[in-house]
Amino acid sequence: MSGVASEPIIRLENVSRVYDTGKVQVPALLDVDLEVADGEFLAIVGPSGSGKSTMMNILGCLDRPTSGRYILDSNPVDELDDDGLAYLRSRSIGFVFQSYNLLPRTSALENVAAPLLYQGVSRKERLRRAQAALERLGLADRVGHVPSELSGGQQQRVGIARALVTEPALLLADEPTGNLDSHSGAEVLELFKDLHSLGRTIVLITHDLDVAQAADRAVHLRDGRLQDAVPA
Ligand SMILES: Nc1ncnc2c1ncn2[C@@H]1O[C@H](COP(=O)(O)OP(=O)(O)O)[C@@H](O)[C@H]1O
Ligand SMILES: [Mg+2]
Repeated sequence: MSGVASEPIIRLENVSRVYDTGKVQVPALLDVDLEVADGEFLAIVGPSGSGKSTMMNILGCLDRPTSGRYILDSNPVDELDDDGLAYLRSRSIGFVFQSYNLLPRTSALENVAAPLLYQGVSRKERLRRAQAALERLGLADRVGHVPSELSGGQQQRVGIARALVTEPALLLADEPTGNLDSHSGAEVLELFKDLHSLGRTIVLITHDLDVAQAADRAVHLRDGRLQDAVPA
């Protein structure tokens, strides 16, 4: 990880994102301030339409704020061009998606190795690291399986291995249990807690207050604005 230990991994300063549809301006995020410290496990919770996907896209460097500043792992995003942003994304963020987003007809091993291709890692080293990541997630006996030969929970663990294989500063998960039965979902949340206890920085985006319980801290989105944590 780069950056000084005391620097937050994420800093949003007065961030807004307004969609311009031509006819109307849709303010999807408004004046959001947020810091996520190194090693923190944060949940961002909100109902449908509250701005979660917009937040995910901005935090994940897939989109930029209309105004305000985003500093990721000590890098001011507004000072980067699109290539710079893509590079930062590939180095600093591991994504976990609701629908796993694995390549079909491709083995678990090759799926997990894929993000290392963009970092110029040799094939032998890619496969070695992918194997190690899958072993850490308890999938040593599944490395040769394609996604359709795996359960939903196993596919999501392959997705998490893929997110971790680059050793990113931030694990960013969008409704990671949304497609799983409650047992598999609970296993994935336990896995996040284990990763957190090992020092991983995790941001979990969800509409589900029960899922958000897995995190150390929750912030709530309402109509594009961040609210303070609701007292227990
Ligand atoms: N590309 C877009 N163009 C216009 N409005 C959008 C666009 N994407 C999202 N919105 C609007 O922004 C608001 C927040 O959407 P979104 O971030 O998808 O919320 P969530 O993921 O919490 O459901 C909603 O009012 C939505 O209709
Ligand atoms: Mg959404």
